Amino acid sequence: MTIDKTASNHPLVSVNDLEVTFKVSQGWFGHRPVLAVNGVSLDLHAGEVVALVGESGSGKTTLARSIAGLRPWTAGSVHYKGVNLADMTRRELRGFRSRRGIVFQNPNASLNPRMRVEDALGEMLSVTKTVGRKQISAEIDRLLDSVALSRSYRVKYPLELSGGERQRVAIARAIAGRPSLFIADEITSALDVSVSAQIVNLVLDLRDELKFACLFITHDLTLALAVAQRVEIMKSGKVVDRGTPSYIANESTNDYTKVLMTRQLDAVPTLDGGGPGVLR
Ligand SMILES: Nc1ncnc2c1ncn2[C@@H]1O[C@H](COP(=O)(O)OP(=O)(O)OP(=O)(O)O)[C@@H](O)[C@H]1O
Ligand SMILES: [Mg+2]
Repeated sequence: MTIDKTASNHPLVSVNDLEVTFKVSQGWFGHRPVLAVNGVSLDLHAGEVVALVGESGSGKTTLARSIAGLRPWTAGSVHYKGVNLADMTRRELRGFRSRRGIVFQNPNASLNPRMRVEDALGEMLSVTKTVGRKQISAEIDRLLDSVALSRSYRVKYPLELSGGERQRVAIARAIAGRPSLFIADEITSALDVSVSAQIVNLVLDLRDELKFACLFITHDLTLALAVAQRVEIMKSGKVVDRGTPSYIANESTNDYTKVLMTRQLDAVPTLDGGGPGVLR
């Protein structure tokens, strides 16, 4: 591994006491605040995979969107390479946004149905200015190679693709800016098990190649334990437990972690297909 002598000891991303509040309408009674993220602190270092695990509504997506600079927060801070996103100039923010890639659960949300694959990738390459105009076409081929899609996919529309292929295109778009931070928000929950494994492996291979930090969001603790160097467990807007996969699986005394672990063990499929062990 080569050491970048210009790099400081800052984590790539540092989240401190972050709070994100939504105002939810209560009809005649005005608005009620919902604290979706409630005092979260966490660090992400270059090249590491950190899994964010928690049940639906625990605040994972909201936290990820704030880290990506897409959702304002009500208290606390998010630093990228030691600079508070809130203090960044427009130019710095643009720079930050082009150096982070995001893929969501539903590729239909991130792909415009009227745009062919090559236009979707070309648009991203123009925005991120990864290569000069004349190199865009060659870079589109390179991106398709990176996600193991043949060049014939250039002229296809999202509707002509399978779920897995769409997710590959969404990943190609997300890496167009050669990101240092990659956020994967439930990227496999709409896919079959075998396709899911391919997509997860693709992200891990790209992490090895591009050395990005990856925030890997999932409901699936078993998957988190398999892919991440560190796991953060969220419940009701807070990180309630954290540690290496081995700590989470074997040593944690946290009640909620133990509940999640038991649920995962119950969900392991059995060969006879009976009992509580069937995948759900
Ligand atoms: N735009 C919004 N307006 C109001 N409340 C919201 C909004 N987005 C999220 N929330 C609320 O914030 C809380 C956290 O939601 P969030 O989507 O971050 O959870 P999540 O952990 O990603 O859930 P899931 O696993 O279902 O994706 C929930 O109570 C949700 O209802
Ligand atoms: Mg979510």
